[in-house]
Amino acid sequence: MELDRFLFREHVHHISLLSLLGVLWPSAASIAVERPEEYVNVLAGASSQKAGQHHSTGNTLPLAARPWGFNHWAPQTTMDQTSWWSDMQDNEFHGIRCTHQPSPWIGDYGWFLLRLGTANGGQSSYTTYSHPDAVRPYKIDLLVGPYNTRVELAPTKHSAILRVKFTPSTPADKRIVCAWVPRGKKTDEDEIHAKTRSSETGSCKTGPRTIDLQTSRFASGIPKNTDFVMYAHIEASNSDLEMAEVPDYSDCYQSSTKYDPLNMGGQQRTQEKTLRDCQKRCESVVGCAHFTYWVDGGCHLADSTAKTVKDPSGTAGPPVCPFASVVRECCFKLNGSPEVEVRIGTSFISSAQSTRALEQEVREHTLDSVATEGQEIWREMLSRVEVVDAGPPVAATWQHLEVFYTCLYRVLLFPRRLDETTPDGGVYHWSPYDGDVHEGIIVTDNGFWDTFRTVYPFLSLAYPNELGEFLEGWLNAYREGGWLPKWASPGYRDSMIGTFADVVLADAILKGIPGFNYSTAWEAIRKDAFDINPEKKDTSRGKFGLGVYMNKSYIPIDSGISEACSRTLDFAYADAAAAQVGQKLGHREHADILQKRSKRALEALYDGQTHLMGHKTISGKFKVEPPETWGDCFTEGSSWHHSFPPFDIDALVRLHGGKTQLLEKLRQIFDTPGTFNVGSYKVEIHEMREMRQLGMGQYAHNNQPVHHLPYMFAMLGDRKTTASLVNDIMLRAYSIHGFAGDEDNGEMSAWYLLSALGLYAPNVGVSDEYVLGAVPIFPRVLLRDLDITIEAPSASVREPELGEVLWRSRAVDGPSVPYSELRHGGVLRFVGADDPRAGGIVSKVERQIDRAEKAADRAVAKVSNKFRRSPSRYGEERHDGAFFIMGSIGLAWLALSLLRWLCKAVRSQTSQTNDKDN
Ligand SMILES: *[C@@H]1O[C@H](CO)[C@@H](O)[C@H](O)[C@H]1NC(C)=O
Ligand SMILES: *[C@@H]1O[C@H](CO)[C@@H](O)[C@H](O)[C@H]1NC(C)=O
Repeated sequence: MELDRFLFREHVHHISLLSLLGVLWPSAASIAVERPEEYVNVLAGASSQKAGQHHSTGNTLPLAARPWGFNHWAPQTTMDQTSWWSDMQDNEFHGIRCTHQPSPWIGDYGWFLLRLGTANGGQSSYTTYSHPDAVRPYKIDLLVGPYNTRVELAPTKHSAILRVKFTPSTPADKRIVCAWVPRGKKTDEDEIHAKTRSSETGSCKTGPRTIDLQTSRFASGIPKNTDFVMYAHIEASNSDLEMAEVPDYSDCYQSSTKYDPLNMGGQQRTQEKTLRDCQKRCESVVGCAHFTYWVDGGCHLADSTAKTVKDPSGTAGPPVCPFASVVRECCFKLNGSPEVEVRIGTSFISSAQSTRALEQEVREHTLDSVATEGQEIWREMLSRVEVVDAGPPVAATWQHLEVFYTCLYRVLLFPRRLDETTPDGGVYHWSPYDGDVHEGIIVTDNGFWDTFRTVYPFLSLAYPNELGEFLEGWLNAYREGGWLPKWASPGYRDSMIGTFADVVLADAILKGIPGFNYSTAWEAIRKDAFDINPEKKDTSRGKFGLGVYMNKSYIPIDSGISEACSRTLDFAYADAAAAQVGQKLGHREHADILQKRSKRALEALYDGQTHLMGHKTISGKFKVEPPETWGDCFTEGSSWHHSFPPFDIDALVRLHGGKTQLLEKLRQIFDTPGTFNVGSYKVEIHEMREMRQLGMGQYAHNNQPVHHLPYMFAMLGDRKTTASLVNDIMLRAYSIHGFAGDEDNGEMSAWYLLSALGLYAPNVGVSDEYVLGAVPIFPRVLLRDLDITIEAPSASVREPELGEVLWRSRAVDGPSVPYSELRHGGVLRFVGADDPRAGGIVSKVERQIDRAEKAADRAVAKVSNKFRRSPSRYGEERHDGAFFIMGSIGLAWLALSLLRWLCKAVRSQTSQTNDKDN
């Protein structure tokens, strides 16, 4: 069914384009992508991973948003208070969550729930997600049981429109739409933070047709001694509404899922479904002083002798609820109305700004117009990586397109732009790095340990201008918080090791990416390289263990600093990158120190016995550990995964005694069985299982540290092995259903995109080279921003033979092409075995034809739009004019098509000659 949908839409267009010359066309049609957003499968990787304990298929959320949007929105399918609140294989629907969660391992912040029915008396609902349009990048559209309620939501950057349609069978008292901020557990960081500030983690109040809501829920990452509030201003379209504020009892009584023996005579576990009903029952039973409420239904009444008494003063009668005055849920009651459209504006700055966001973005819109606008924005964004020719219309081509554009959608979700726009166009932000409001751009929700490897080098190629803005955003984080973040969500988070935001900045400086301040960037990089974070045990910024590293040139395993090997190598990576930038910006002294530091670290950890990086002690001896042992010295992996950092390949070659030896060792990674010792992790973690599952030996594509390894072969002159591994990984680790491990803010996806384009940047920040990998999966892709066309005429062949690669018609010498070349645009042509050099000239002509055709397309659209839009304003003469223009364009088209036909003919001629030669 899906295939039919694509076939129909894409093909119809193609046929209309070529109908002029249809008969003359020399070979079978190929697919040109007009609506890339149709290929995005938002649900990929969003199923069956509750609590992430089994194995990951991506750990993604099914998100509707704008690219890099301020808010994300997703269906919530469970009330479990964990980060795994959305599972597309659940059968329950608990509402649509406004979310900012970048990863379940990090958690959410500033979130609230829009739902049907209330906490006290809402029915549990069921939904069908299976239809392909349930969640699109620009719209959520669900059918919810038992009354077949249609729930739709379309987001803008800072706002959204929700529409709920009730069927006639829905009882009047079930026609309720609520906004809700549930209370967290008492031990949660946000609840503790709120308590110390005598505030609440959530509240709302109603006005006529309006709800103003505040949510201060977060997992971590909020600066101490600051307020943190996400404001939402919500308005309903209907005028005949009743508003309801639902008091919150969740803190009044103990609610527990544990079953205790009853200690009141004659009591059984009862059938009450809600807290309020339990309270009523307790009130009506003589001697009931307390009760326990089970979230799955029923209550357990207790008298004053109960051991679980929470309120020591409550010796008789139901306890007085201390918090019932706090309202955390506010509702629109529709009474008889069948439908309501609700507009939502949000802000981290102020309540007034949330109202402004609503005014600016959705006041004059309908749900459908917002959805259409969103679809167009996604189309424009996704089209910047335009698959001009996807190959023949066969199933594999559509699957490639679906995986490709699903990955691109994932890359365009993070980092998150957290800035807001005032009516006069000013850009301001609440800063998660210092808790104040400042002018300018800010970004967050990125784990650099993951994303530096692929997301940023991909953005350099495909979205260089947006990249410059993000970098200025990261520099604002540095200006406001004093350090570059390592894992930002929303502020500094203590997660993973090393500093890689500095590497990202270094990379952008090497490449000359515009839009951010290089001298501030150097300041931030230098700080990461030389300053020891004075806050003890604060590993959320700076390099934890830097002092030892500087003194010893490596971090010994017995120095009391965890993950010593990985830390050493990650520090050395950042040093290598900082050294390059120091050199480039004229800070020679610093550059020299960093260059030496980086080399010494690599040499210090190399164990000549095992030819791997080893667990080195203070005394300089290596502790013997099997290479399959995870943890301890290494982060989320074993020495197999961490022993081949790409930042100084010459040094690695020297240490291994030559290219041949290094290549041999690299091959062993893939040839060694995928077994493991759990090591210091003590239990099997999902990453271990996923490595075994992939079936590529010790190669663990499910996690980041190995992602450059397949490309090291090409760096060392063996492009064939690289190509074959990359093809294998694209097939095994990516599908239309998900990923072979955590997707991680676009990192897994960007690996696929780069690999699918035949380019990969293995030593980000140290060099601007893009190594050539496998033959790209599509015959022709255009990176619009830099005007780079990537051609691979033999792409449709399974595992096409590796031929020469031409950049601007010249054969690429060596394994890579530098960004300094790519940034000027041109054709990168992966010459097929039956497509020698003559093809290069033909492709140049074809590129010009493409352009002319596009211009013609646009002209036609313009003319016909004018013609269609206001026929009355343009008289008959104008119509004639339009026909004349259309006619000329048609003729031009005919000429172009003839030219294209000639090109094809030349090409097929060349390949026939070639066949004969062979
Ligand atoms: C860049 O930042 C430096 C301070 O680090 C400042 O002196 C300089 O004026 C800034 N440049 C621009 C163009 O804003
Ligand atoms: C590094 O060496 C200096 C000088 O010997 C010493 O004062 C300092 O405590 C050492 N730092 C660490 C973290 O070992």
